[in-house]
Amino acid sequence: MDTFIDKVNKSMKKFALFGNPIQYSKSPFVHRCFSRQTGEKYSYKKILATHENFDELVFKFFREQGFGANITAPFKEMAYKIIDEKTNVAKICKSVNTIKLMKNKKLLGDNSDGIGLITDLKRLCFIRNGMNVLVIGAGGTARSIVFSILKQGCKVVITNRTIEKAELIAKNFRRFGEISVLKQNYIFSKQYDLVINATSSEIENKAPDIPYKIFNENVFCYDIFYKKIDTKFLEKVKKMGVLKYSDGIGMLVSQAAFSFKLWYEYLPNINSVIRKLRK
Ligand code: ATR
Repeated sequence: MDTFIDKVNKSMKKFALFGNPIQYSKSPFVHRCFSRQTGEKYSYKKILATHENFDELVFKFFREQGFGANITAPFKEMAYKIIDEKTNVAKICKSVNTIKLMKNKKLLGDNSDGIGLITDLKRLCFIRNGMNVLVIGAGGTARSIVFSILKQGCKVVITNRTIEKAELIAKNFRRFGEISVLKQNYIFSKQYDLVINATSSEIENKAPDIPYKIFNENVFCYDIFYKKIDTKFLEKVKKMGVLKYSDGIGMLVSQAAFSFKLWYEYLPNINSVIRKLRK
């Protein structure tokens, strides 16, 4: 007789994205591309959750033969708390963006944001060992990426509107490399090779309120946010003379590819999907 996991494996695999808001998410499109490209037949739907029903919806999805899930803001920390087993990266970041149902029916949680960002920064040739990196923001996204940046041998300065949150991240990640905190108004006391906007200020159609005099033609800039036109942050840094900049489309595709890898145990092609999304 088929076991529960056999049944899940034989049917078209079901995946879902949980978040709020999710209506504009490009993840279903990215996964449709991966599915076509690899021939793996799977469905990928969006599930709008609230803080009240998030865990209930996730458990229901897996009871009803879901095979894997992605978790986006603001539930990555909640997901970390409700799953059974975690990869090392998820444990370090205390945040989960990918879940996989394992053969023993337990839920495994991973976080592919960090590796997704680094993969994209390497594609763009924006990161090298020993660089000085400024991370703006100290929310869930910043928490998910700081470890991976430190692992590349970069020195990190973290700043945030609410400085206490940046201090907490620095304290948590100090054992992995050189990380310090500066208040937004003091970030000009250092020079940076790469500046990453990891705030969600774009949702309010704003750029973070920092001294933009730190930017010049030698600074690489990356905004984790993405939209059709330049984000407010990218608009501002371009005005300051920055020549090498990018939004977060490549990170979106890369982190999705590493979720796919957790589910199917191989990596799909990333660049072709970035090209499709740019169109
Ligand atoms: P995410 O999962 O996207 O990181 P989050 O955990 O809610 O979302 O964190 C949002 C981040 O964006 C925080 O660093 C937040 O700053 P505060 O900690 O001070 O709230 C930052 N942020 C949001 N709106 C911002 C704005 N208008 N200007 C500057 N920073 C902003």
